[in-house]
Amino acid sequence: MAKYRIAWLPGDGIGVEVLEAAEVVFEKLRLDAEYPVGDIGWKFWRKEGDPLPPRTIELLKHVDAALFGAVTSKPVKAANAELVPELQGKTLVYRSPIVRMRQLFDLYTCLRPCKAYPENALNFKEGIDLVVFRENTEDLYAGVEFGPVPRELADLFGKSAKSFAPFASLAPDDYAISCKINTRAGSERIVRAAFEFARKFHRKKVTVVHKANVVRASDGLFLDAAKSVAAQFPDIAMDDANIDAITMWLLKNPFNYDVLVAPNLYGDIISDLCAQMVGGLGFGCSANIGETLAVFEPTHGSAPKYAGQYKVNPIATILAVKMMLEWLGETDKAQSVQGAVAEVIREGKVRTYDMGGRNSTIEMAIAIAAKL
Ligand code: IPM
Ligand code: MG
Repeated sequence: MAKYRIAWLPGDGIGVEVLEAAEVVFEKLRLDAEYPVGDIGWKFWRKEGDPLPPRTIELLKHVDAALFGAVTSKPVKAANAELVPELQGKTLVYRSPIVRMRQLFDLYTCLRPCKAYPENALNFKEGIDLVVFRENTEDLYAGVEFGPVPRELADLFGKSAKSFAPFASLAPDDYAISCKINTRAGSERIVRAAFEFARKFHRKKVTVVHKANVVRASDGLFLDAAKSVAAQFPDIAMDDANIDAITMWLLKNPFNYDVLVAPNLYGDIISDLCAQMVGGLGFGCSANIGETLAVFEPTHGSAPKYAGQYKVNPIATILAVKMMLEWLGETDKAQSVQGAVAEVIREGKVRTYDMGGRNSTIEMAIAIAAKL
């Protein structure tokens, strides 16, 4: 039996292509692992009405880690229109499989390092080295949504806070509600993960991102939880910033920041911003980490317009592989993948289209594998 079982979840669009690139790297690494393939994505939604079929969930219960490519997500109406005729008219609801995996397996830490590799022409500034900790299971992603709004809820609004009164008189179809749910335990554990990381890797500061001046209840709780955790880490500085302001400040002076921690949606937003500062989505990698399982993925989506062209940059996925190796405890292999990526970027000889070159996804992977 192999030492590791790694679920292989290509998904669709360019997800398939970047996982082929990852395969090139794994072949060279000769990790003692097996890679069972899991069905996931748009194809399974259309055929089965479920983009994350139960057999894939079962598979994920019996692996050490998973590598996920990307999956196309569409709004409700468009998604339902594409179901096979037998499933048409059923009340099926498309839910993003990656969001479901995060919740089903309680992968509460979304870790997104954004490091500027030296001499990448796409760097916003040389030397940027930010790490985003995104809470990955709650907040506006909780999935508690109403549209149309049920009568009982409308009545409740009518009776509660004055500010809701105008909504209470609307027809159920004329508004919708998405609940932002943040728990104290959920907030504390992600902030703790950020501080523990900061301590382990000698980072100087953790910045808590929120909008507690307006979203008083849920963000207020997040900030409060963050402060109580920070008090347990006197060796690491803590500050906080509003989500809107920090997007400006990050651009103005990225060197004022180090580790950032945020509730789910703000983390989603700032991690794209930070990825852009280090070369764009071709360089943004992501780990979804729980107590027993971790799913690694490029931060980018399935990019349907590039599907089948083998032109997108696989570095994001290859850096996700590096994170996986670290998480498995294969530190030397992780270091060597990172070194190989850094060298290929610095040399600038092999470049995908986003880097101003003409090399394919697979050529980039081969160039990186050649340095391992
Ligand atoms: C991400 C993505 C996902 C998210 C989408 C694909 C559901 O944007 O991982 O950042 O919103 O979490
Ligand atoms: Mg995102």
